[in-house]
Amino acid sequence: MEQYVIKGGNPLVGEVEIGGAKNAALPILAAAIMTDDTVHIDNLPDVRDINVMLGAMESIGTLVHREGRHYVTINAANISSLVVDNENVKKIRASYYLIGALLGKYKHAEVTLPGGCDIGCRAIDQHIKGFRALGAEVVVEHGMIRTRAERLVGSHIYMDVVSVGATINVMMVAAMAEGKTIIENAAKEPHVVDVANFLNSMGANIKGAGTDVIRIKGVPSLHKSDYTIIPDQIEAGTFMFAAAVTRGDVTVRNVIPKHLESITAKLLELGCEVQEEDDCVRVVCSRELRHTHVKTLPYPGFPTDMQPQITVALGLASGTSIVTESIFENRFKYVDELTRMGANIKVEGNTAIIDGVGRYTGAGISAPDLRAGAALVLAALSAEGESHLDNIHYIQRGYEDFHLKLQGLGAQIHLVDTEQDYSNFRMMTG
Ligand code: UD1
Repeated sequence: MEQYVIKGGNPLVGEVEIGGAKNAALPILAAAIMTDDTVHIDNLPDVRDINVMLGAMESIGTLVHREGRHYVTINAANISSLVVDNENVKKIRASYYLIGALLGKYKHAEVTLPGGCDIGCRAIDQHIKGFRALGAEVVVEHGMIRTRAERLVGSHIYMDVVSVGATINVMMVAAMAEGKTIIENAAKEPHVVDVANFLNSMGANIKGAGTDVIRIKGVPSLHKSDYTIIPDQIEAGTFMFAAAVTRGDVTVRNVIPKHLESITAKLLELGCEVQEEDDCVRVVCSRELRHTHVKTLPYPGFPTDMQPQITVALGLASGTSIVTESIFENRFKYVDELTRMGANIKVEGNTAIIDGVGRYTGAGISAPDLRAGAALVLAALSAEGESHLDNIHYIQRGYEDFHLKLQGLGAQIHLVDTEQDYSNFRMMTG
């Protein structure tokens, strides 16, 4: 089984290039099937979730042509089925974007629902509420969500919770419904804006994305587009925290600094220096980290997808810190692994109380999910000694070439699959 073997203790130094945003790319790929014209998408990250989504699209007759590692051409003129039901699709949460895309275009979609919860119960009631408000009938049965409409008609929809997925899904359907839709209490994440921009580039009429009220005038059809996906806010934030926990000096390139403001603000509180330029940020950490408090919130608040990474940093900081998780109820599972590395963290409900320990020590650990897996890599990079991280397939779902990019910054991290790989690692690291 593949593992990362990591020898910690090196400050990370250098430059790293950030790829396209996975969580923007997933709905944008789904939305690309809403036109019969050919769509070109650039800056696509080459990660497992994206490849599963492309596979699901092909399984219903979409022509997908990967022109390059990060560039894809999509044509959905000859979709042969409105039923998406394969084993792989259950593995990605974002398969639900195919419901919005197919329902909007064909007024009918049947998509298998994602399986078990990994970071908490992830309801889809707001998606369903939005589809119904636009005129669709929706049933959930035998693990599938089935939805159909005679007509889709614009509506005024108030979201009871701020949901990225529900906002994007309802926006996709409303883009092709008759008349006007208003989505209130919409999510404001950069990837919501990116999907709106993509749909507008195909001829949709969506205004207000990035604020909590989105106004949509439906159009009867969408057309071709050539679109570049925004940089990944969470990949960038992960490398910024990698600099912090290893007391390094890392310039993170190809980012939109505005999207990183809450992450930058916390790094400053922790005692790091952060310099922003037009499309890069440099994080320098030359002293002991300081404690602080943080609560995850919808954008522009501190992202839940950065919660494990900041907890790893606070575990090393002087004093007591409190991290409150307000989006998902079960997102501290990795704390047990961190405790094996010497962390002193007590979890009570959705709060972690952290007494900084100054240093971690290497251990055998296991990634419980995507972002926590990346955070455990950061912990291992800062630790004294060697760590072995299992279940790295979670990390590969969302980070392209993670270990190679870290190696480029001087990290001693290797992907090993055999005894021979491991001996090579030992030889290289002494
Ligand atoms: C997306 C991201 C995920 C990120 C999350 C929050 C993708 C593929 N995933 O997930 O990485 O952590 O946003 O930024 O883009 N909720 C409901 N009913 C609904 C929908 C959501 O109660 O119908 C709740 C959820 O249980 C959760 C909260 O709303 O507590 C936010 O979830 P949501 O923003 O929808 O997350 P996802 O879109 O699933």
